Amino acid sequence: MPQQLELPLDQILVGDCIEMMESLPEASVDLIFADPPYNLQLRNDLWRPNMTQVDAVDDAWDHFADFAAYDQFTERWLRAARRVMSANATIWVSGTYHNIFRVGSQMQSLGFWLLNTVCWYKPNAMPNFRGKRLKNDAEFVIWAARDESSHYTFNHQVMKQFNDAKQLGSVWKIPLCSGAERLKDADGKKLHPTQKPEALLERIILASSQPGDVILDPFLGSGTTAAMARKLHRQWIGIEREAAYIQAAQQRIEVVEPLAEEALLPLTVTADKAPRVPFKRLLEAGLVSAGQTLYFTVTNQPATVLDNGKLQCGALVGSIHAVGAKLTQAPSCNGWLHWYMIDPITKRNILLNDLRGQLRDVN
Ligand SMILES: C[S@@+](CC[C@H](N)C(=O)[O-])C[C@H]1O[C@@H](n2cnc3c(N)ncnc32)[C@H](O)[C@@H]1O
Repeated sequence: MPQQLELPLDQILVGDCIEMMESLPEASVDLIFADPPYNLQLRNDLWRPNMTQVDAVDDAWDHFADFAAYDQFTERWLRAARRVMSANATIWVSGTYHNIFRVGSQMQSLGFWLLNTVCWYKPNAMPNFRGKRLKNDAEFVIWAARDESSHYTFNHQVMKQFNDAKQLGSVWKIPLCSGAERLKDADGKKLHPTQKPEALLERIILASSQPGDVILDPFLGSGTTAAMARKLHRQWIGIEREAAYIQAAQQRIEVVEPLAEEALLPLTVTADKAPRVPFKRLLEAGLVSAGQTLYFTVTNQPATVLDNGKLQCGALVGSIHAVGAKLTQAPSCNGWLHWYMIDPITKRNILLNDLRGQLRDVN
């Protein structure tokens, strides 16, 4: 076992990621993003109809002798990654249909607890020029906790900001990185064939970490994870083997301006930390009034607000949650997300949750 290092924060470690992770202290990182080789095994060059060659991933770092060699590598790096994860850490592993199923299977065998698979939909993906298959416009990112019992970070409220204040799903539409964001080499060619979009990393980091947390990327490439970690006030460790990528990543990270505190704050609120607000406080604050009509999002049924903070919907009387649960015959219902009022002036629907947010903002 190599000698154990102090935690080398905000640095790129040069070398093989398995060896480097084995040299880090156990249980020392809060989050991992890993974008390992895809093992694409391209057998022929790809050409566009206009006879220009497609810039595919055919680099030496993506070559493995066969599936067995790839599986062995995957098992080794995943094992090393799990060792450095703290008990409540999570890991995101991205891949394509070529490798993601092999990676996911190994993750389950090693004891990771799968939480979601994000389907990253790329609206600007390249077509399948020969029309022999569907357009390959999705990649997958498996999100997993270290263990089934991990008390992992998930910033549900922050994620709602990416979906019009509603719960965010697992299909994320994010364009492939292009334009000024795409790093170029001295000849103006793409510096790295698989540079991930900053928006993808930003969302992953915001979903599953807090400012100050330590984020590790064992396949740093062009440095996307580190750049976004720095922007969002997280600490980072990157590992990469290729000198050209390391140099470009270093230059890229150095010029990233961390977000101003005011900009970071709305991206940091967690459900758990938000103060509890009883529905009656909305009445006391004059945001709703006794006798007012609220409507249920699922059925648009009306209900009347009573002066004791309960709702009356036909013969049903109870809390916003209890009446909602009865109306949908569900075991429970989050009334904040299911009752709305109609603004008398703008005629727009206002969810109780937004009124609750106004109260939290002033408290
Ligand atoms: C799919 S790319 C990651 C791209 C990165 N996410 C980005 O946004 O630029 C995989 C990277 O891992 C590096 N790599 C492959 N095997 C490695 C190993 N055993 N140790 C360290 N780096 C490795 C490759 O050089 C390549 O840059």
